[in-house]
Amino acid sequence: MAPYDDFAWFYDRYWNEEFHSLAFPILERIWLERLGPAGPSGPHILDVCCGTGYLAGLLAGQGYRVTGFDLSPRMVEFARRNVPEAAFHVADAARFQLPGPFDAAVSTFDSLNHILDRDDLEAAFRNIAASLRTGAPFAFDMLLEEAYQTHWGESFALVRGDHVLTITASGYDFRSRLGRCTITMFRLVEDAWRRADVTIQERCYTPAEIDRALDQAGFGEVCCYDAGDLGMAGDLGEGRTFFVAVKP
Ligand SMILES: C[S@@+](CC[C@H](N)C(=O)[O-])C[C@H]1O[C@@H](n2cnc3c(N)ncnc32)[C@H](O)[C@@H]1O
Repeated sequence: MAPYDDFAWFYDRYWNEEFHSLAFPILERIWLERLGPAGPSGPHILDVCCGTGYLAGLLAGQGYRVTGFDLSPRMVEFARRNVPEAAFHVADAARFQLPGPFDAAVSTFDSLNHILDRDDLEAAFRNIAASLRTGAPFAFDMLLEEAYQTHWGESFALVRGDHVLTITASGYDFRSRLGRCTITMFRLVEDAWRRADVTIQERCYTPAEIDRALDQAGFGEVCCYDAGDLGMAGDLGEGRTFFVAVKP
């Protein structure tokens, strides 16, 4: 099972709107406006680690053609239900091959920090580059060390009549550069409380490592933008950087 499978129901319900209401205007400014007009024969966008399809839905709503993929079959099930007009696949970013070429790619909400191995991150960038046409822009955001050293360690709880969720962060290990949090969830289904426990791990990469991996994968013209400077306020923007790279 993929780590997000058991988390998918909660993610779909609680984790999309707040982030994307702040991230989408940033993407429009730094990436989307580089694309041609949307439409049935307009740009085709690849959403890497698409989650439950919220971003794909925003893009499809503007008339773009969208294909997304995610490691978690359960997240993809939600995405297919949420955005029937887009295509979704179950695939690993470090190993995928999809028939392209796509006109742009995107990956949001620190999804690429979930790739724990530097070689796998480079492989993901290489696969994304291979799926793009020449000149296509790829936008993504990643968390840098400042984020893991601050709010990553915070705990969180949500209690509702028929569902409960707690997040216990085990903090950030600065030697391995791994952040880990444990999510415990209960849902009342057919008069019985069902429990699921999930551990999510993320790897902190330095800007130099990210730049090198992009370079090795063949991306150029790399620009980076601090999320806070672009208006992403609060914890969500802290230590988060948006990158745009171009397939030369
Ligand atoms: C924080 S969620 C973000 C989802 C979505 N991009 C969004 O903006 O809402 C991280 C997603 O990355 C996916 N993921 C993690 N590792 C992956 C991998 N190696 N390949 C594809 N998807 C992956 C997870 O299953 C999860 O859906």
